Amino acid sequence: MLIHSASQLLTLSGGPQRGQALGSLGILEDGAVLVRGEMILAVGPTKELMAANPHEPTLDASGCVVLPGFVDPHTHVVWAGDRAREFELKMAGAKYLDILAAGGGILSTVRQTRAASIETLMDETRPRLARMFAHGTTTAEAKTGYGLESQAELRMLQAILALDAAGPLELAPTFLGAHAIPPEYKGNPQGYTDLLCTEMLPFIRQWWASQPSTASRPLPFVDVFCETGAFDLAQSRQILTKARQLGFPLKLHADEFEDLGGASLGVELAAVSVDHLVKTSDRNIQALAASDTVAVSLPCTPFGLAESEYTPAHKIIALGGLLALASDCNPGTAWNESMQFVIALACRTLKLTPAQAIAAATINAAHAIRRADRVGSLEPGKQADLLILSVPDYRHLGYRFGTNLVRQVIKRGRVYLVETGAHPTQ
Ligand code: NIG
Ligand code: FE
Repeated sequence: MLIHSASQLLTLSGGPQRGQALGSLGILEDGAVLVRGEMILAVGPTKELMAANPHEPTLDASGCVVLPGFVDPHTHVVWAGDRAREFELKMAGAKYLDILAAGGGILSTVRQTRAASIETLMDETRPRLARMFAHGTTTAEAKTGYGLESQAELRMLQAILALDAAGPLELAPTFLGAHAIPPEYKGNPQGYTDLLCTEMLPFIRQWWASQPSTASRPLPFVDVFCETGAFDLAQSRQILTKARQLGFPLKLHADEFEDLGGASLGVELAAVSVDHLVKTSDRNIQALAASDTVAVSLPCTPFGLAESEYTPAHKIIALGGLLALASDCNPGTAWNESMQFVIALACRTLKLTPAQAIAAATINAAHAIRRADRVGSLEPGKQADLLILSVPDYRHLGYRFGTNLVRQVIKRGRVYLVETGAHPTQ
C-alpha cells in the first residue's frame, strides 16, 4: 500500500532526541510511505514512490498530516470500578494523598480490582483502549498496581497480556506491585516492601519464565511509587535493587507531590525512565538530564488534580536530557485517553513547541518503553504504525484540543477508520 500526497509527512527519523535536538520532525512535503505487510518499506517524495511503485494500491492523504502513531509510555489503564465521587471531593478541597491515607484513592480501586475476574478487568478496559486507539495511540505501556498481592497483581498482568494479544493497540506491561501499601500492611510499609522483595517479585519472575507466551518476551518493567504515604526512598531502593537483580528493567514514579530523591535514585539504578517529576530539585534534574534515563512528564496529572505546578521541561531540555510525554491514564488523577490532549496541554503548561511535544509523544516515548527500534518514527524497517490527521499543518496538534483530529489509524499495516472505532477497513 502506498500512502501518498501528505501535505506534511513527519518522519521523526534519526533516533531519540536529546536536549535542544527535541522537535526534529523530519518533515517531507508531499510525502509518501510505502507499506508492505506490517512494515514500512520506504518513505519519500510522492512523485518518486509513485514512479517506483506504479501498481501499488494507494491511500490518498492529500491535505493531511501523516505521522507515526503516538506511543503512550505511562498508563494505569487497567482497573475496575469508579471514583467519580472522589473527583468531586477533590474539587471541594480534599487532598489526593489524604484520601489515600484514609483508605480511599488507589486503595478504593484496589478493592474493586481485587473483586474482579480477568474477564471483568478486560471488559472494563477494552473501551478505554479503543478510545486511546481512536485518538492515535498505537502502542502504550500499561501497569498493574491495583492488586497489591500476588494473585490479584498476576490477574492484572494477565489481563494486560491478553489485551495486548487481542490488539490492535500494543501494550508494554509493567509490574507496579509497589503502588501503595495494601490494607493488610497498614502502618507497616516495611513489611509490604519485604514481601515484595522476598515473594512477589520472585513469583512474577518465575511465572513469566514458566509461560510459553511470555518466556521468550523481554521481562515487564518494575515500577515503584516513591512518595510520602507510599514507598520512601530506602524502600524504593530496596524494591528496585531486588528487581534489577532479577533482571527486570526499571521505572519509577518520582516527585509527583514531594521531592524524595527518586529522580537521582532512578539514574543511579539505570532506570529506563523516571516519571512525573513535578517537585524535582535542580540537582536531581541535573543528574537525570545527564543520564540515559528518560524523563517522562505527565501534564494531565497536575491538570487533573487542578494543581498549578508542572514538570520543569525546559530545564531538562536545556541540560540535554531526554524528555517524553505520557497520559498517566488512571481513575484517580488523570482519566484521559488522548495523546492529542497531552500534546495540547504540554504546549501550554510545559511551554513546548508543537514539534517538541510531538517528538516527545512519538520517538522519545517509544524510547521510554524500549521500543524505539520498532515504533515511534516512520523509517524503512519499522512497524507500519501511523496516523493520517485531517489537518494540513502539524501545528494543529497542540493548537487545537478537545476534538479528535485523527482520520485514520494504521496499525501494523492495517487501516482503521476512526469513525467506526477499531474495525479494520481492509
Ligand atoms: O500516576 N501516583 C500514583 N499513581 C497514579 C494515580 C493512580 C490512582 O490514583 O489510581 C498516578 O498519578
Ligand atoms: Fe502513574
